[in-house]
This record gives sequence, structure tokens and C-alpha cells, in this order.
Amino acid sequence: MAETNAKFLKNAWYAAIWAHDLPGSTPIAKTFLNEPVVLFRTGDGTPVALEDKCCHRAAPLSVGECESDGIRCGYHGLKFDATGACVEIPGQTQIPPGATVRAYPVVERWNMVWIWMGDAAQADDSTIPNYFWLDDAAWKAANGYIPMQGNYQLLVDNLLDFTHVTYLHKNTLSADPEEAKVPVKVERDERSVAVSRWIFGHDAPPLFAKAGGFDGKVDRWQTTTWLAPSTLAFDVGCAKADTGAVDGDRSEGISIWSMHLITPETDTSTHYHWAYVRNFALDDDKMTEVLHDGAKATFEEDVVMIEAQQERLGGISFDGLIDINADNPPIQMRRIMDDLIAAES
Ligand code: FES
Ligand SMILES: [Fe+2]
Repeated sequence: MAETNAKFLKNAWYAAIWAHDLPGSTPIAKTFLNEPVVLFRTGDGTPVALEDKCCHRAAPLSVGECESDGIRCGYHGLKFDATGACVEIPGQTQIPPGATVRAYPVVERWNMVWIWMGDAAQADDSTIPNYFWLDDAAWKAANGYIPMQGNYQLLVDNLLDFTHVTYLHKNTLSADPEEAKVPVKVERDERSVAVSRWIFGHDAPPLFAKAGGFDGKVDRWQTTTWLAPSTLAFDVGCAKADTGAVDGDRSEGISIWSMHLITPETDTSTHYHWAYVRNFALDDDKMTEVLHDGAKATFEEDVVMIEAQQERLGGISFDGLIDINADNPPIQMRRIMDDLIAAES
């Protein structure tokens, strides 16, 4: 039977919001995995995530007001602390039993606020992926966020399939049909899929040509590692052809971490946090702008297609559609997720 509703992996860290997009004093309403959540910071800057539904009469807490040690509901003024416990009810001294809202574990790391949507007792922050370059003095990030009207796995599929680059990104990344034929190497384990390939002696894609000032042929590497449930780090770059990049010498080239921190919002909508992180021209604001605008234009091409695809699909099932060889990595990703979700329930 065709699946009509998405099932999500609950016991996992998800990217909730870029740290710089979470100001202290304004509550932010977000939906993750179909659950309404309010995000804010306490007076000392600690991020907090609570169920966005007051336990009194279900008003969204996100329309309330932050205080230094919690949030006050904007309807009848109940106040909740960072653990979700009601600590104040105007006009009465007794707090009734059960006066709490759910608190979700959150951790701020790598300039991202990560949220755990499952059993809080199992939240172990050592399992947050190590993406240190997102917040490291040796690297410079250009970040962005795109709200996408499509199931999150359509975006993961897209990022694990390199063949679409030639067709969907012909204006931003590459228009060379030979590139779509370059084979990829696929490796997987219980929670990850890695896809990689080298393209030797081709033109630099327009964005890299601009960023690296290449005028001749380049050798180009693309490696992506997807980690369950839905984050991907791409090690991409290119170097002047035949200068030893394939053997590890990247001195004649440029390297970029292309980051994709993807979080389901609902069955058919997604929070897409992306970043382009470089280790060259760190103080060059113009370079940050070029990479930001180039990355944004590229990722929006994906989002436009995925939203159109979601529209045609209606739900989340691929019933009646065919597979091609290039679907191997996405299919492996989906199998791993199905297994993890089945193991959880
Ligand atoms: S609904 Fe929140 S205080 Fe009444
Ligand atoms: Fe793409």
C-alpha cells in the first residue's frame, strides 16, 4: 500500500535554526516533524525549545513574551521556565499538577541550534555531527535558509544524485553533458551514505572559475557524506589540472564545504539550512558575497524543481515511477532511514 504520511526518525539531532537567526528576546515559532515548537533564549543566552501550545487553553506561546528566565503566555499570563514548568499564574499561588509544556533538548554548536525531537533521556550531544568548519577561525561561512514546500527526503535524494547537476544547474554549476556520465563511488554504513567522484581536465564550473580565477582546465573533486537523518557535507573544489590534487595536493586549487542541514517541517515541507564554507580569502567580503549569491541561486534551482515535483507527487510515495542507476545512493539512504525508523518504533 502506498504510504501517505511521512514517518520521521525521532531520536536524532535536527538543525533547528542558525544561531545568529535566534535573537534573545523574540520568541520564534517553528514546526519540526509536524510538532509546533517555540524557540527563544533565556537572559544568559541559553537557547530553549518548548512545545508551542500553552497547557492552559492552547494559545501558542510564541505570541507571548520572553522573560530572562522563561516565557509568558500572551493570553492569560501563565509563565513557563526553560524546563517547560509553569512557575507563575497571575492571581493565584497554587500551580495545578500537570501545568507543564514539553521541553525539547537543544544544543548550540557550529553556529547552529540543534533540537532533539525524541526521548529526551536519549539525547546525547556527542552524536551531533562534527561540522566544526561552520564555526572556526580558519574557515569563512556564507549561510542561508530556504523554506521548502516539499518532503525533506526529496531534497536528500537530490543532493545524493550528482547527475542532476548537468541539467538542473546548467547555468550555475555545469552544462557539460559528459559530466553526468562520470561514475561515482558509493559507500554506506548503518547511518551514512558517501558518494564521490573526480572529474579530470574539464572546465571549472562558472562559480568556481569566478571564485578561484581559473582560466584553463581543472581537476575537480566532489564528495558528499549524508548522515542520518538529514545532514550532508560536501567536500568540493577544483585545482589547476594535473597539479596533484587527486594525490592530496590542493595547493593549486580551492576547497569548499557545501553544507546542507535539512529538517522536516511537515510531511511535505522542509527547513533547508545551507552554507558554503571556504578556507581561502577569509577576509574578502566580496568573495563571501559571490559565494553566497552563487550558492543561493544554485540551491534555489533545486528547491524550485523539488516543489514542482512535490506538487505532482501529491504525497510522499514513488508508486508507479521508475528507478535509474543514479538512484542507487538515494535508494540506499531511504533504506537506511526506513530501517532506523522501524527500529525506533
Ligand atoms: S492560554 Fe496560555 S495562559 Fe491561557
Ligand atoms: Fe542541486
